[in-house]
Amino acid sequence: MPSIWALSDLHLSTSGSKPMDKFGDHWGAHADRMAAAWDRLVGDDDVVLTPGDFSWANKPAEAVGDFAWLAARPGHKVMVKGNHDHWWSGTQTKMAQLLSPRTYALKKTAVVIHGVGFFGARGGDFAAQKKYGDERSAQDIEDWLAREEHELKLSLDALEKIHPRRVDGQPPGPRICLFHYPPIAPGRSSSRFTPIIEAAGAAHCVYGHLHGPELGPAKVEGTFRGVTYRCASCDQIGFEPALIMRLDARPG
Ligand SMILES: [Fe+2]
Ligand SMILES: [Fe+2]
Repeated sequence: MPSIWALSDLHLSTSGSKPMDKFGDHWGAHADRMAAAWDRLVGDDDVVLTPGDFSWANKPAEAVGDFAWLAARPGHKVMVKGNHDHWWSGTQTKMAQLLSPRTYALKKTAVVIHGVGFFGARGGDFAAQKKYGDERSAQDIEDWLAREEHELKLSLDALEKIHPRRVDGQPPGPRICLFHYPPIAPGRSSSRFTPIIEAAGAAHCVYGHLHGPELGPAKVEGTFRGVTYRCASCDQIGFEPALIMRLDARPG
């Protein structure tokens, strides 16, 4: 039976222009180690969620090598945009040319694979990151989060069309939400996003963005009102895909 995995924030730079080991020795050759783990664990019919910060490329043309890396990995891939994904094009034609086969980049859209519905959004910081020189005002933050909330709703609307509910109102299969930023503020268990994720009927919400050894309360994980939240940034999970769920055998 297919499985669903997560491995986020690959921060690929196959061109070699942005080596990651400046962030610590544990990042050394991380793309090679992730490839080996991915190829060992993931079956060709599996799904890997990689919600953002996929590539350091600034333009679509610069991301070609990173997508070749992804194309060489087994499985279906689902992504949302991270804050570093400057290569992400607003035009569907450019994105279609770039994306490797069976790769889905969600933005106000959704996809169903093996009867599982995937939706999500980028999300954003819940407060300005002043220690990194972030000078956004409270209104800037509010505007950003409001836009992301709207995009999450549009993504869910898109999912409802291709993954229509049964007559009893329940989704026809499992649903999984992808976020780049943590969908919940540090130390909390709910946010403006969580009622939407819950109402969607999602069992899991996978996110990335956070890096480093001491994340403290920023790394919100656990099961809240039926949704299990997990940070899947590659350095948080040993640079190996983490198992999110195995799909049961189902008739037909
Ligand atoms: Fe990020
Ligand atoms: Fe990242």
